[in-house]
Amino acid sequence: MTSIITATRNHYPTILTLKSQFYSEMAEVVPSIHKAPEGSSGFFTESMFEGDLLSGTQAYFVALDEQTGAIVGFITIGRRLSPNNPLFTTNSFANIDEIYVAPEFRKQKIATELVKAAFKWATANGLHTVKTGVYARNSGGYQFWEMIGFTAYKALVEIDLSNAAANRYEEYTQQDLVKKSDS
Ligand SMILES: CC(C)(COP(=O)(O)OP(=O)(O)OC[C@H]1O[C@@H](n2cnc3c(N)ncnc32)[C@H](O)[C@@H]1OP(=O)(O)O)[C@@H](O)C(=O)NCCC(=O)NCCS
Repeated sequence: MTSIITATRNHYPTILTLKSQFYSEMAEVVPSIHKAPEGSSGFFTESMFEGDLLSGTQAYFVALDEQTGAIVGFITIGRRLSPNNPLFTTNSFANIDEIYVAPEFRKQKIATELVKAAFKWATANGLHTVKTGVYARNSGGYQFWEMIGFTAYKALVEIDLSNAAANRYEEYTQQDLVKKSDS
């Protein structure tokens, strides 16, 4: 059995290790963006965690394996404000920054329970929209969010100019030049 509890300082060393594993996995999924953290904790520090907890605008929940007492997953969610200018609807929302479950504990609905705890936190804080980011290449992560009920509201797109996509652009450029010289 696993239970979901609010994280305390005592859990931080384990969260740190899980965060590090999370970014190591992301480095495999999107090597153009993330690189595996060095050492067991990467660049994360205890003071970052303290700062988050003290701010009151960020919450951490952990999944505790009741048999062994081990922390096997975590989620962090925080309050965000939309830009405060006339072009935006000024409202606040909750953002899930990270969610991670140790590989050997996956597919047991632990992440689903972590998300439920995060949703409760959002509601209790008067936040009725929850957002998160997931890399398109992280198909497992994407399917997980879809299963929870999240839908895409914005897509970030990119092009790597050093590979085939750039050639296509060059092709168009050449066609443009040909057209120009024909006319
Ligand atoms: C994504 C992640 C948090 C899911 O954790 P989990 O505890 O295994 O998830 P759950 O057991 O609650 O999954 C619930 C449902 O989500 C879907 N799902 C979860 N992982 C999936 C995967 N890898 N591929 C396809 N669907 C998946 C399934 O529908 C699953 O239900 P099922 O097991 O009955 O098929 C975990 O795989 C993980 O930590 N991945 C690395 C970090 C990451 O990608 N984080 C999310 C994006 S930022």
